[in-house]
Formats: sequence, C-alpha cells, structure tokens
Amino acid sequence: MSRWTPPRFLLAPLTKGGNLPFRRLCVDFGAKVTMSEMAYAKQVVRRRPSEMALLRRHESEPCFGVQLAVGNPKDGVQAAQTAVERGADFIDINAGCPIHDVIRRGMGSTLLQRPAALARIVEAMVEALDVPVTVKIRAGWKEGEINAPEVARLVEEAGASMITLHGRTREQRYTRAADWDLVGQLVQERSIPVVGNGDVLTWHEAEDRIAQSGCAAVMLARGVLVKPWLFEECASGRTWLPTTAERVEVYLRLVRYAKEHFRDDEKGRKRAMFFLPWHFSFFCRYRPMPEETFVEKARAYPLMQTRVVDEGELSPAEQVLRDPRPEVHERIAALLWDAADVDGACAGLEVLAAEVGRPELDDSGEFSVSAG
Ligand SMILES: Cc1cc2nc3c(=O)[nH]c(=O)nc-3n(C[C@H](O)[C@H](O)[C@H](O)COP(=O)(O)O)c2cc1C
Repeated sequence: MSRWTPPRFLLAPLTKGGNLPFRRLCVDFGAKVTMSEMAYAKQVVRRRPSEMALLRRHESEPCFGVQLAVGNPKDGVQAAQTAVERGADFIDINAGCPIHDVIRRGMGSTLLQRPAALARIVEAMVEALDVPVTVKIRAGWKEGEINAPEVARLVEEAGASMITLHGRTREQRYTRAADWDLVGQLVQERSIPVVGNGDVLTWHEAEDRIAQSGCAAVMLARGVLVKPWLFEECASGRTWLPTTAERVEVYLRLVRYAKEHFRDDEKGRKRAMFFLPWHFSFFCRYRPMPEETFVEKARAYPLMQTRVVDEGELSPAEQVLRDPRPEVHERIAALLWDAADVDGACAGLEVLAAEVGRPELDDSGEFSVSAG
C-alpha cells in the first residue's frame, strides 16, 4: 500500500501521555487516528513485556498506528510485523526523537543525519508490510543543518505513505516556535500527504496552519495533553470553555478508563498512578482562551508559547486544578481515584485546596500555558 489520506487531525505519538486510557479519552472527543507511545523495535523483536504492552489497541480506536524507534531494517520489519499482527493499522517510524537514550542507539533524530539509512529502513518495511508506513521527522539536527526537504524526498521515494514534520530541530527542543513555512515547503515539493505538527493549542490555530501551509492534516500533541477535548474543538470550530465541574468530569472519565485498563484494585491503582499524576502536570496548564481575545493573539504568536496571567478570583477547586506542584498532582489523582462522583470530587478538591494552600508564583506572577 503506498497512498493514504489521513483525516485532518491526528493524535501525536506521546511517550507516557499516549497510554491506552488517554487515547480512549481522545477517541471520545473525536480523534480518528491515534498512535501508540514510541516502542523500541529491538525490544519488540525480543518480546519484552513492557514494550509489547505499548502495542495494545483499544477496540474503540478507529485507526491505530504503532510508532517504532528503529535502528536497522531487520528489526524494523520484524517489530512492525508483530505490531500489525496485534492490530496496528499503520506503522510510523520515529525520526525525530531528541532524547539521549534514543540518540546514542542510532535511532530517532539521529536518522536525520543518516537519511540514506532511514530510506533503506523505510524501503524494507514498505516491501514487507501490507499496511502504510509513515515517518515522523524534525526540521533537521540543528540550525544550519535543516534537511527536512531532502529527508522527505528520500522517504517518499522509498515508499512512505505519509510524512509528518515537527518544524523544529533536534537542538531547539521547544524553545522556538515551530516552523510552519517549512511544512508548506514540503507540501509544495512532495506528492504524499504532509502532516504539520507544532504549537497547535486551539482550533483556530489549526485552521490557520492548514491555510498557511496547505498541509493535509495537523498532528496534535501538547495541546491535547492540556485539553483532551481539542479534537472536538477542531471538528466544530468552536472553543469549549468548560466549567470546573465539566473539567473534573473529563478527568474522572480518564480515571475510569485507567481503572478498566489497569484494574480497580491496589495493584492497578499503583500502575495507574505512574500515569495519572503526570497527566495533571499538563491538565494544570489549562487556561480558558475565549475566541474574542485569542484568535488575534494566536495570529501574532503561537498560544502554546504564550504566558497567560490568571485573572480574577478563582474558586478553590479551580485554584488547585491549576496548581503546578507535582505533590499536588499526586493528591488530585488519588482523590479522583477514590471519588464516588463529580460532586464528591469537586468537594474533595475544595478541601484539598485548603490543605495545600497556594503555590508560590515565579517572579512574573504568571503560569505558563506552554508545555514540555
Ligand atoms: C510528553 C511528550 C511525549 C512525546 N513522545 C513522543 C514520541 O514518543 N514520539 C514522537 O515522535 N514524538 C513524541 N513527542 C513529540 C510530539 O509528538 C510532537 O511532535 C511535539 O510535542 C510537537 O507538537 P506540539 O507542539 O503539538 O506539542 C512527545 C512530546 C511530548 C510533550
């Protein structure tokens, strides 16, 4: 299979964040394509249980891709075949991961420095598989070494069905705004669908980026970690400004899915607590962004990079949900795990707010919405 038309919005591969319960939540809010956390091809070949767990798909996921960190064609083919046997609809090759552990093994964004090797991996996997093979890249290794156009050409020639560009270099991490002009350049130059990725926090930014670049689709990452309902906003073209209770309802649904996945007992709770408090390190960055104010602001600068001051007096429950302290995230996750319903959870948050007090703000008195 060589060509594939993606829907307009895709869930990004997210290590830790893209766990199965969280993906279910995204599907509830309209995600049509979901992706696994990155799995190491070599560990899949060795059938390592923790890696095999990453391949698991939930029956509600309409189109599920498995992302692999691959260092050579043989591992890539074998791991991908295993993923397909277990229900993957497509395989994505990670050629953008900047973290040291991945780099030192010659995978992730290292492949941007070895585009011919990446092309050989793609070619072997396309040859061996009946499902689409896609590739996720960055702009390049560092400034002065921007080679996404060349990498995209080689990857297309090798038979990839789709390419996603996160418009930053490996070195930049999240310090700069993503380069959507480069996404536009790839769209001009390539005939396979090009997916743009980087800094999309609202439906109107998604629309603007599609208009600016002509990309086939937008991949959403931190925006969804902050607002799992972003898919619904993108589909409807409207910003949802949930009440505190409505937000809590969303988080409780994630807890319910975590209980179903990990089991509602002590062992399951322990496993779920690896993920749930971590999710609150993103949920706490949520700030209401009414369209009257933020459509214009977003055109001037990506909202993901913007700092927003908390205005007005917040309710105790809202205050605690915005608290950036990890120890508070642990307490919130534990409270929601034990809560009987939304009312009980909201009452519990009020008590918690009184117990933990207010966090000390940084010098500017602001929290950052930007994540990562
Ligand atoms: C917590 C976290 C985990 C991530 N894990 C992966 C991953 O496993 N594979 C990958 O290709 N990118 C990963 N990324 C990068 C995102 O997929 C995405 O390219 C990047 O965050 C830019 O998109 P955004 O500005 O919408 O967040 C991760 C990002 C975050 C914040």
